Amino acid sequence: MRFARRLDQVPPYLFAEIERRIDALRAEGVDVISLGIGDPDLPTPPAVVEALQRAAARPETHRYPSNRGLAAFREAVAGFYADRFGVQVDPGSEVIPVLGGKEAVAHVALACLDPGDVALAPDPGYPPYTSGPVFAGAEVNYLPLAAENAFMPSLDAVPREVASKANLLYFNYPNNPTGAVVADGFFERAVSFAREHDLVAVHDSAYTEIAFDGYRPPSFLATPGATEVGAEIFSLSKGWNMTGWRIGWIAGNAKVVERYRQLKTNLDSGMFDALQLAGAAALTEARDFPAEMSDVYRRRRDLMIDALRAIGIDAEPPRATPYLWIRVPEGHDSASFTALILEQAAVIVSPGPSFGPSGEGYVRISLTVPDARLEEAAGRIASSLAIESPA
Ligand SMILES: Cc1ncc(COP(=O)(O)O)c(C=O)c1O
Repeated sequence: MRFARRLDQVPPYLFAEIERRIDALRAEGVDVISLGIGDPDLPTPPAVVEALQRAAARPETHRYPSNRGLAAFREAVAGFYADRFGVQVDPGSEVIPVLGGKEAVAHVALACLDPGDVALAPDPGYPPYTSGPVFAGAEVNYLPLAAENAFMPSLDAVPREVASKANLLYFNYPNNPTGAVVADGFFERAVSFAREHDLVAVHDSAYTEIAFDGYRPPSFLATPGATEVGAEIFSLSKGWNMTGWRIGWIAGNAKVVERYRQLKTNLDSGMFDALQLAGAAALTEARDFPAEMSDVYRRRRDLMIDALRAIGIDAEPPRATPYLWIRVPEGHDSASFTALILEQAAVIVSPGPSFGPSGEGYVRISLTVPDARLEEAAGRIASSLAIESPA
């Protein structure tokens, strides 16, 4: 049997590897604590579950949905954008549902890129920023994110010949994996860069609702000119504990949205109408739920940061996202530190280079496990480091 070469052109999906390793250890009877995947441990708000139950009982939701999405869903998104971000989105032409942010991040590349085109993507970054463009036959040019630059890409450093071939720019704030929040002026610079090079700017907005200490992450679409040059992909997964539901949307430039819809009519038949009604309930009846989740993650963030500091690992508390991006201790690289923690503490963290070459020297810790497990993990990490270098 022969398979398409494109599947060999992307690294094995990071989390699939991590899941395999967890299964192997658990099969040996080891009590593994996984801080590797950003999959919320707490349930979806009851109002959303009940809305799905009610909607699923209505036979009119049982037929093929449309890729345009239900008016009720699009209007709920427009209402949310207006109230939360002060952004006007036309529910008729500027938003459609997507089957999770991941689907949109990967597929938007198919809508925007031809073979030979370039996609500009943050490094470290969410892996589909690479696989989407590669599957489209395009090349990926990484934009390094470094602590010295507050994890913001330098668009000025993109060589002219690369920028001239680029037709897609991905960026993501609050950022996975670094936890960074957008610096003043960056969204404006993304708009001017997109105009200068006539490319599509796509903001991945998976984490705007998980933020701490009074910080309210903005939407890219609130930036003057943003809707002229691009779109934003939003997900209900993290803020509303809905990773299993597969609900998000793409909003912004009407041409981008329409091209995306056209692509999708060839790939899938849209989102189950009952799910869209449940998504609308999240945005209306459970709008404040992400603030409650943010309190949970803030508590866990502080707990883990304190535990790490106590063993000499200095970590900055992030202002958003359920992740800690930790520089590994002296004498380690990402792989050796990940292996040490796994073998000595049976705790799984994500090695930084799984998100791209600039992730070397870091690991990502996800706070999506119950407090007691997180405390247990912190204790085990402390003991494993003590074993390695006894005082
Ligand atoms: C940066 C980023 N974008 C998008 C997503 C997609 O989430 P989902 O497909 O569950 O909506 C994730 C999930 O981890 C993410 O980290």
